[in-house]
Amino acid sequence: MEPNLEVTVGRVKLNNPVMNASGCFGLEYGEIEDFDLNALGGIVNKSVKPLPVVGNPPPRIAEVDGGMLNSIGLEGPGIDKFIDEELLNYLALGIPVIVSIAGGTMDDYLMQAEKLDKIKDIAAIEVNVSCPNVDTGLAYGVESELVYGLISKVRQATSHPLWVKLTPNVSDMVPMARAAYRAGAEALVIANTLRGMKIDIKKQKPEFARKYAGMSGPKIMPVNVAFVYDVYAAIGDRVSIVGVGGIKDASDAMEYILAGASAVQIGTYNFADPLAIPRAVEGIKDYMKGMKVEKFSELIGKAHR
Ligand SMILES: Cc1cc2nc3c(=O)[nH]c(=O)nc-3n(C[C@H](O)[C@H](O)[C@H](O)COP(=O)(O)O)c2cc1C
Repeated sequence: MEPNLEVTVGRVKLNNPVMNASGCFGLEYGEIEDFDLNALGGIVNKSVKPLPVVGNPPPRIAEVDGGMLNSIGLEGPGIDKFIDEELLNYLALGIPVIVSIAGGTMDDYLMQAEKLDKIKDIAAIEVNVSCPNVDTGLAYGVESELVYGLISKVRQATSHPLWVKLTPNVSDMVPMARAAYRAGAEALVIANTLRGMKIDIKKQKPEFARKYAGMSGPKIMPVNVAFVYDVYAAIGDRVSIVGVGGIKDASDAMEYILAGASAVQIGTYNFADPLAIPRAVEGIKDYMKGMKVEKFSELIGKAHR
């Protein structure tokens, strides 16, 4: 029997548990991926801000052992152009569209949530409280009171399902997760890039203009798997978790799922293998067949039981 990969994240029904991670997919750059995008459980845009953003000066990325560093600076068209142009391309796909928003102030988030509230076809809003590349972005995700304050206001601004993407740049994620849940988050996306730095040994200076950059790719995976495990143990009975960080294939995805994630997102590895997402979907089916599991939901958090 063909395994059933359908899963519900908060209130959002996905045909399968594999999505792209924000900022790591070709659609916003006008590229067409090499596979039928219907293979995606859902699609996430690069985080959008209220106004157009030029982004950081180069270099913006550096390859490092086991992953990459990025300091893009949330380059983008701003919410109005996003809604009028990019979003239409996403919605035309006919799969759940999760709109990621970012900002430097409370008003940045609220203004965008209000605009998106009028667009009934989007599946969820993913609130990025964690981007380490923009000065003000770090603040919300590292303090539980700020997370609560922001998310409870965004909750009032929209009736869309609300997902909150947390930062791994904390020693304990549980207080942030609880705060987001108490404020009305229906899913917690765990997690964004890990703060890092690269030194140019010829110039004897940090390589990036903003000194710090976000580390992503296979080497960060065990860090985020542990955060997923902790948050699931604390509040996994009340809120859905989406695992993200370093996933290459179905085996990696299964680690997150067994740790407590209902779904996963693949980011950096799309650059190495543009077919990583459809391969992961097929690989999860094979895993389920091998384990003789028919319902995907039975696997969520199984490492705890
Ligand atoms: C080039 C690049 C751009 C990114 N842009 C965003 C973004 O706009 N918003 C966001 O929430 N995360 C962004 N991220 C973080 C990813 O969505 C993801 O959380 C992180 O890279 C860990 O997953 P991965 O190891 O599979 O890439 C970006 C990551 C990369 C590498």
